Amino acid sequence: MHINIFSSESALAEAAAERIIAQVRENAEAVIGLATGASPVAVYHAWGKGAATLGLDQSRVRGFALDEYLGLDPEDSRSYHAVIRRDAVAGAGLNAELVLIPQGSGDPEAPAAYERAIREAGGVDVQVLGIGRNGHLGFNEPGSPAQSRTRVVQLAASTMADNARYFDRAEDVPTAAITQGLGTIFEARELIVIAVGEAKADAVAAAIEGETTEDLPASLLQSHPNVHWFIDQAAAAKLSESVALVAAV
Ligand code: F6R
Repeated sequence: MHINIFSSESALAEAAAERIIAQVRENAEAVIGLATGASPVAVYHAWGKGAATLGLDQSRVRGFALDEYLGLDPEDSRSYHAVIRRDAVAGAGLNAELVLIPQGSGDPEAPAAYERAIREAGGVDVQVLGIGRNGHLGFNEPGSPAQSRTRVVQLAASTMADNARYFDRAEDVPTAAITQGLGTIFEARELIVIAVGEAKADAVAAAIEGETTEDLPASLLQSHPNVHWFIDQAAAAKLSESVALVAAV
């Protein structure tokens, strides 16, 4: 695991974006895994800015989102279809036609179709990830099997509480989602994990220094051969001093 701790979110975003841009420079048809949520937004913008500065042609870059709520219309501004269009496609300057997002319609064929699409694209070159306060990755909540594939899941109470800020009424907060599985995510050749803010400090410390357990899905990252953590100081606050010292950028 490569752990990088930054004193500013903009420096973090630029460094993470550099890794993605390096892939696109190497392969104009690179496949990038896209997370939603607040954590990667600055990274997507830094990526878009960096690509524009270099005059990089990103029209053939392909993207796969991690997850989508069940039951929200793709046009709903709170759906992950909308979030990915706004934050990742517009932010990074991608071709929307080449960015796939799991279908939250409840179609029983959707999970297998999504797995097939990723496989047919040749797998994911770089996967961008955020981490939940409870250590979830995508919507793989604590207890998710390490070998899990794309499937429909129920959301944990803490996840629904975190997501409630995007909905006016508590009863509108989705209780289920379709998510890439941990097994699916870990097949990506490189993982970039973004953690910002003190609310993530416990999960980050447990994921990096705790035992590997399905009870904290992010701890399973320890067994992936190519993981790069991008953490700000607040999210790094509970790492042991020896790790934090080596990781400071
Ligand atoms: C993203 C996702 C989640 C988030 C995580 C952190 O598609 O499914 O795992 O990455 O909940 O969310 P933020 O970044 O909003 O704190």
